[in-house]
Amino acid sequence: MFNKFGYTRFKMNPSSPCWCKSGKPYGNCHKETDDRLYDLQRIGVEIPTHEMIKNHEIVSKIRLSAKINIACLDYVEKNIGAGVTTEQINQWINEITHDMGGIPAPLNYEGFPKSVCTSINSEVCHGIPSKSIVLKEGDIINVDCSTIRNGYFSDSSRMFIIGETSPERKKLVEVARECVYKGLEQVKPWAFMGDMSNAIKSHARSNGYSVVRDIGGHGCGVEFHEDPYVSYVLRKGTGMVLVPGMVFTIEPMINAGTHRIYTDPHNHWTVYTDDGKDSAQWEIQVLVTETGNEVLTW
Ligand code: MF3
Ligand code: CO
Repeated sequence: MFNKFGYTRFKMNPSSPCWCKSGKPYGNCHKETDDRLYDLQRIGVEIPTHEMIKNHEIVSKIRLSAKINIACLDYVEKNIGAGVTTEQINQWINEITHDMGGIPAPLNYEGFPKSVCTSINSEVCHGIPSKSIVLKEGDIINVDCSTIRNGYFSDSSRMFIIGETSPERKKLVEVARECVYKGLEQVKPWAFMGDMSNAIKSHARSNGYSVVRDIGGHGCGVEFHEDPYVSYVLRKGTGMVLVPGMVFTIEPMINAGTHRIYTDPHNHWTVYTDDGKDSAQWEIQVLVTETGNEVLTW
């Protein structure tokens, strides 16, 4: 017999080692969480799988990967400016990542040809670095960096303003950042993904912006892109319930105009806004802790 949701209570001897590989007995580790999750699932709530719940050892390995990712973006922050090509940024990332013992995760990922994504102005994400793309005064650019270190993944992105830009672009970049941290405030055990989502969507909309619906965030750590898919257009109190040990990205793409987007028909990667208006995105990688959250990568 199947129940409505396809799962039944997870039955494990309380004295056997917990499935999370903490080494602690199940009864003193994840039993309470599992019981509470099962009760929620029974009333129709979407719950995480065990693969989504990381133990301390895995988290500390993700932190080591994150160290490289953060160093890369810190370097970009100090050195980016008018006249720099996006290929130059690609080379910086490559060099720093390898020097620190990592591998750039984007390179060859599903055929992506470079080590970082660089998306300018109306490019929403997945822009491909090129020596023919020269940054100029007034541009806004997202640099999206992802690292593999010892098999563990980190992922974050930041916006950079090249020289002086228009008040409109400046505001878009600032509000996109605020959206991430308004979302983050909602990340705590037993909250819903939709609580985070709703905070982001409300802040974007109250500033006259839209949130991209077709691309979102993801679990991240043991794989580059893991479940769950993280949407930023959910309603409060909906979506997956959050529990300690989950690691995922908050990376809403905020558009000045329509939420609609399209993919470059020639390179099959670069995503643009449908109306040609600007887009901005910041990305952090977050751990749900016992008391709230911890930003692992920024
Ligand atoms: N770094 C992106 C993300 O935030 C994914 C890029 S995939 C790539 O999820 F292949 F374009 F690198
Ligand atoms: Co990501």
